Amino acid sequence: MFIGEAPGADEDRTGVPFVGRAGQLLNKMIAAMGLSRESVYIANVLKTRPPNNATPTVEEAQLCAPYLHEQIAIVAPEVIVTVGLPATRLILQSTDSMGRLRGRWAEYVGPGAAGIRVPVMPTYHPAYLLRSYTPENRKKVWSDLQQVMARLV
Ligand code: URA
Repeated sequence: MFIGEAPGADEDRTGVPFVGRAGQLLNKMIAAMGLSRESVYIANVLKTRPPNNATPTVEEAQLCAPYLHEQIAIVAPEVIVTVGLPATRLILQSTDSMGRLRGRWAEYVGPGAAGIRVPVMPTYHPAYLLRSYTPENRKKVWSDLQQVMARLV
């Protein structure tokens, strides 16, 4: 399961997550992992497009969180890949930076006494990669995804 930030204009119009430019890069990342879009579940923290495409506030993320927790409980994914800071912070209940969180396994614990536990690999958001398409960043993301692949096998 991949968890992003919020629908953009394309996603809002189609109701499908990650269909714009960032989505095309996410598709490539998924394909490079030997997976298909049909074999993964993609969700966002926010369920509607934030005004002016702004980064979700903590309050907005908290308001939408029950829907995301429910999605995770239903999908019961083997692994969660959070892309970008808002998803990573919400899923891990952390206030750390992306630099500290990415590339290290962490754990999602669902709400309630019987909350499910899912391994989480945080990585950079494809929109960030598009803005900062350096060999170094690409290498970091690829190494994060390789850790996921190793865990899925
Ligand atoms: N599209 C999405 O659906 N989510 C993002 O986080 C970015 C683009």
